[in-house]
Amino acid sequence: MFGKTFVDQYVVVTGGGTGIGRATALAFAEQGAAGVIITGRRGAALEEVAAEHEALIPVVADVTTPEGADAVVAAVSELGGQLDVLVHNAGIFRNTPLDDLGADAVREQLEVNVIGPVLLTGRLLPLLREGGNIVLVSSISARLAGAGSSVYSASKAAVDSLIRSWAVELGPKRIRVNGVAPGQVETPILGSGGVSPEAVQDWYSVYAASAPAGRIGKAAEVSSWITRLAEPASSWITGEIITMDGGKLLV
Ligand SMILES: NC(=O)c1ccc[n+]([C@@H]2O[C@H](COP(=O)([O-])OP(=O)(O)OC[C@H]3O[C@@H](n4cnc5c(N)ncnc54)[C@H](O)[C@@H]3O)[C@@H](O)[C@H]2O)c1
Repeated sequence: MFGKTFVDQYVVVTGGGTGIGRATALAFAEQGAAGVIITGRRGAALEEVAAEHEALIPVVADVTTPEGADAVVAAVSELGGQLDVLVHNAGIFRNTPLDDLGADAVREQLEVNVIGPVLLTGRLLPLLREGGNIVLVSSISARLAGAGSSVYSASKAAVDSLIRSWAVELGPKRIRVNGVAPGQVETPILGSGGVSPEAVQDWYSVYAASAPAGRIGKAAEVSSWITRLAEPASSWITGEIITMDGGKLLV
């Protein structure tokens, strides 16, 4: 089904054990990548996904800690020290009304969604080859107002801003930096953020009813654009954020 676009390439996908990250890691592997490091906090979940394709390499690494970054750097070094594609996908969502938002709740989302990508990019930059790619997973929340999700939205607005600044900063190194901004996708993220299973189904229904496409999205509909942005066919695209939301932002 896929062309072998990423033969001999090495890829890191953070949060690669579930949802969009898992789909992305598998897509790179199916398109011929020599090694796809999938990171996350739970070893067992990563091992399970890694069993799905021989190119997948599980590495336990919390994106918010220096030890996590060390583990990813060590894994890339073990593979020969050349990184072709870095996908910042790990993210958390918390539905917290403003009057419950303490500093810790703010910090938690910013640490995973913003500080993690900044620190890991800094550490991996010396290994990222000329002509390499960074792709960040943003969200349409960066441009939408949402009661209870102000910090999540702000964190994704920060991601959008990182994409544009890094595209400029890393252009001279011939590293392209792009992003995807999905709308509602069926993954574990809402449940992990404390939204009850019934409420998750309600959110999905409300989204589907209001989006022109009449449904929520699938992880593979996001991962297909993450790989596309890292392809040579996209070689003149940098600083761009591709929206995939079933038309939600239009209405
Ligand atoms: N699902 C959606 O509707 C949606 C919409 C827009 C954007 N996104 C973004 O997509 C990305 C992937 O989310 P998903 O929807 O696949 O949900 P998910 O919960 O399946 O994936 C998030 C991944 O990040 C990992 N993670 C969380 N904290 C981490 C940490 N400290 N260190 C390492 N890994 C950590 C989780 O273990 C998980 O594997 C996120 O950045 C999310 O904000 C999701």
